[in-house]
Amino acid sequence: MAFKKFIIRSYEGHSDKAHVEDLERRCKIGPSESVLVTMGDPMCRIRNSPMYIMLVAEMDNELIGVIQGLIKMVTVHSHPPKDMAKVGYVLGLRVSPHSRRKGIGSGLVHRVEEWFSSNDVEYAYMATEKENHVSLNLFMNKFGYTKFRTPTILVNPVNYHPFQISSNIEITKVKVEKAEYLYRRFMGATEFFPSDIQNILKKKLSLGTWVANFKGDSDFGLDGQVPNSWAMLSVWNCAEIFKLRLGKAPLSCMLFTKSWGLIDRIFPCMKLPTLPNFFSPFGFYFMYGVYQEGPFSGKLVRALCKFVHNMASRSEHCKIIVTEVGGRDDLIHHIPHWKLLSCQDMWCIKALKNEVSNKFHKLTNVPSPGALFVDPREV
Ligand SMILES: CC(C)(COP(=O)(O)OP(=O)(O)OC[C@H]1O[C@@H](n2cnc3c(N)ncnc32)[C@H](O)[C@@H]1OP(=O)(O)O)[C@@H](O)C(=O)NCCC(=O)NCCS
Repeated sequence: MAFKKFIIRSYEGHSDKAHVEDLERRCKIGPSESVLVTMGDPMCRIRNSPMYIMLVAEMDNELIGVIQGLIKMVTVHSHPPKDMAKVGYVLGLRVSPHSRRKGIGSGLVHRVEEWFSSNDVEYAYMATEKENHVSLNLFMNKFGYTKFRTPTILVNPVNYHPFQISSNIEITKVKVEKAEYLYRRFMGATEFFPSDIQNILKKKLSLGTWVANFKGDSDFGLDGQVPNSWAMLSVWNCAEIFKLRLGKAPLSCMLFTKSWGLIDRIFPCMKLPTLPNFFSPFGFYFMYGVYQEGPFSGKLVRALCKFVHNMASRSEHCKIIVTEVGGRDDLIHHIPHWKLLSCQDMWCIKALKNEVSNKFHKLTNVPSPGALFVDPREV
């Protein structure tokens, strides 16, 4: 069947913003297609990256598709001598429901890949929920992407009861320079660690980096000394850039939301965590760069998560705390989350240059070397 021609062009903020927002509203994403996104600025997810692009597809003067791409340098193992690679991330692909299956999604992905290649990108990658078979079909069957990593997205609702933090734990906010030093030293070799970490830490959306240690344990010395057990994390304020809300919530989740609220009203003294109202727009904090070291550091990770929770409970819009952990089952164990709200992500990757195909083979066939750094700019 012959399809009508569509054109692909750069996004024009002043004339396309409302149309892209409308398209976003009509394209459901998330588990069971139940999460809708309302955004103030359609470019909010890419604006904080070193290089980015946003394209739209148009047919008969109607905006019917959108895609974004960004480029950065990250740590990639099996890339001697520096173990660094230039990668391009494909995100925000949406095609209007009435225009699907006409090659528009493929056209948009193709144009972003061309932009990657013209900028010397070695690998393109994308992430989607494991159950998004349409998207996985498109990227894997049509464009030759390979399954790469399956990090877990952990979600914890914020409630108004603050958590107690053990009095023998000390939590300190560190300056950006110190945070950069700690990240480069302890997480620099983590897969997909961004070489421009300082830019992330300096952004207004990054609320800060906190370290935790036990009182009386050795301190963070000027000479680079660290306590025997310690943990660190940073917080990215996604509530500032977009909001989510449940559309067609799975019945079980809906019932759960209602009954949980009821129980909390009847038994307030039980201090049960209240599930927020997910049916009106809500924002979230994203915890990134979670690191732990030492025999008792799991307790410190928990304390930091409680600290972030208490901070979120004072914010008007933040209703959940999200983090994404790859290759670290031990860490998942220490991060409070609700299984009902958590899910698995699927990262797929593709080599864009012939000369990296050997390295690519190693990258995708060798099991994950451990932790994965999930860049908050890509959430
Ligand atoms: C994913 C999406 C962008 C695809 O757009 P599209 O314009 O329909 O895609 P195309 O017509 O170019 O299809 C390309 C390939 O995708 C796969 N595909 C598309 N729709 C599919 C469907 N309903 N079922 C199974 N596979 C499908 C097929 O492999 C197809 O190739 P084929 O037509 O040769 O069989 C669109 O369905 C969408 O906006 N979905 C909601 C948002 C989303 O999930 N985005 C992806 C986030 S990463």
